[in-house]
Amino acid sequence: MQLLTLSGSLRTRSTNGFLLHAARLMATADGAEVTTAEIGTLPHFNPDLDGEGATVPAPVAALREAVGAADAVLVVSPEYAHGVPGTLKNALDWLVSSGEFVSRRVGVITASPSSTGGDYANAQLCETLRMMTGTVVEEACLTVGLIGGKLDRETGEITDDQLTSELRAAVKSLTTPS
Ligand SMILES: Cc1cc2nc3c(=O)[nH]c(=O)nc-3n(C[C@H](O)[C@H](O)[C@H](O)COP(=O)(O)O)c2cc1C
Repeated sequence: MQLLTLSGSLRTRSTNGFLLHAARLMATADGAEVTTAEIGTLPHFNPDLDGEGATVPAPVAALREAVGAADAVLVVSPEYAHGVPGTLKNALDWLVSSGEFVSRRVGVITASPSSTGGDYANAQLCETLRMMTGTVVEEACLTVGLIGGKLDRETGEITDDQLTSELRAAVKSLTTPS
């Protein structure tokens, strides 16, 4: 099982990044081989660079190869202004025409300090991934509200037992397809 992870936050001490780190450890414990795609340095999507005969920029080619090689993808992201962070949407836009998400199993986790858990961004990500004909695994989708109180301030480790078990179940459903 090759699991690729994508983060919608570029922040060094990202709360979503801490969740992603925990998810990676859980997936590794389940026997998955986990890799992370770097999306912060992708150029802005431009259809002129994506058409027939065009040579896509190297970081885009690398992203496409990474998604294409994965059995499943886990997206973990904050919500910005009730939407998907531009960096993440940009990465997904580069993957529309090339088709690597077709039938790819994918989970979507959003976390926020507010009680809503980034539910707008979560719904938008699921909608976009379904439009790209990815297989959104419902059990691997989570909105995590009040994230600030569920992580250790210093280490970023999860301190909330319910969140730990929800995240473990989400990761397991993605890494062990029925
Ligand atoms: C530009 C911006 C827009 C934001 N918009 C929302 C929002 O619409 N909904 C929400 O729940 N939180 C919003 N937040 C708060 C983020 O959820 C919070 O900063 C969170 O810690 C970001 O995730 P990270 O810790 O993984 O970087 C916003 C933050 C920023 C910087």
